[in-house]
Amino acid sequence: MLFRKMFAVTFAAFAVVLSSFAADAPEKISVKSGRILVAYYTWSESGNTKYAAEQIQKATGGELLEIKPKNAYPKDYNACLAQAQKEIRDGIRPELANEPVDFKKYDVIFIGSPNWFGTIAPPAASFLASADLAGKTVIPFFTYGSGGMQNCERDTKKIAEKAKAVLPAKAIRGANVRQADKEINDWIESALAITKEAAASGFYGFELKSWDGKEVKTADFKGKVVLVVNTATRCGFTPQYERLEKLYKEYHDRGFELIDIPCNQFGGQAPGSDEEINTFCTSRYSTTFPRMTKCDVNGDKQIPLYKFLKEETNKADIRWNFTKFLVDRNGKVVKRFESGDSLDELEKLIKSQLEQK
Ligand SMILES: Cc1cc2nc3c(=O)[nH]c(=O)nc-3n(C[C@H](O)[C@H](O)[C@H](O)COP(=O)(O)O)c2cc1C
Repeated sequence: MLFRKMFAVTFAAFAVVLSSFAADAPEKISVKSGRILVAYYTWSESGNTKYAAEQIQKATGGELLEIKPKNAYPKDYNACLAQAQKEIRDGIRPELANEPVDFKKYDVIFIGSPNWFGTIAPPAASFLASADLAGKTVIPFFTYGSGGMQNCERDTKKIAEKAKAVLPAKAIRGANVRQADKEINDWIESALAITKEAAASGFYGFELKSWDGKEVKTADFKGKVVLVVNTATRCGFTPQYERLEKLYKEYHDRGFELIDIPCNQFGGQAPGSDEEINTFCTSRYSTTFPRMTKCDVNGDKQIPLYKFLKEETNKADIRWNFTKFLVDRNGKVVKRFESGDSLDELEKLIKSQLEQK
């Protein structure tokens, strides 16, 4: 009897301890990977902050963005020190070369910077100050020489005061950053509960913009056989538009869709505005399929859809205009066709895919 009572008391005490632990544990923030931005500035040759940012990107599945000042800092260390010191002293926020960021797309923004004179580097400060942070969670991270965090966290919190929350910053010694993968992963794990959105939704997880500015989701094409083509109006392959329109006319009723993505990255052969490109295609080739705004399909500014399409096939960069990806009714990328590959073969495959339910 006494034993039973003792057990009950011990158990109750244990339960109290347990529940107080639960109350103290910081709550993780739930976020979808597609809604995370990892923005960073890096200066040195060794790219310490870039390395940390890439590790965070891998761990979160978020989008990576390098912050670039319009006028790069001098490559010479002492000259860079002098310029940085002056800018920090005078509170200068340098202009950036980056395209404007659509902050609506993100809930969580990682902001990375080297520690410069004990604070956040001016380009990273410019980026953060330019962001509409209402409703966002900001997570700062820094790499440093030997000073540690110094005022980096404090100053970043000040710049991000309009954010919903600024989580405790992470500071990593630059010289150790390449041994810190596990530390970075554990830190992220303790702060965020991430749903890997893009992987789960595959082809249907992307947002595009039509040539006239309307939102288009790849999810709108669920159940269809979809051909994604990067196009150009002044290319030797431009006459392929005629065949593409024929395919669209012939098979659209049976569930075939075509997404035209103009791209100026190959020989600058799509120089026109979105409207000019659309007018050209509709008047010269009488096209009727959906056309998107001009996009990059390779490099830093490539749209996420292209990253996915390449990953799912041979992983190689797009080589030229009129590369084609055929996606089946279940969102699986069936085949990549290079610009000059047979359009008869393409048609055969479209037909056979349309027959599969
Ligand atoms: C202009 C300048 C100022 C710096 N000031 C500091 C400092 O105050 N404290 C510190 O610990 N490290 C300082 N460092 C070292 C960098 O923070 C460190 O090397 C960092 O990891 C570099 O990151 P990056 O490779 O992404 O440029 C400074 C470096 C530069 C270039």
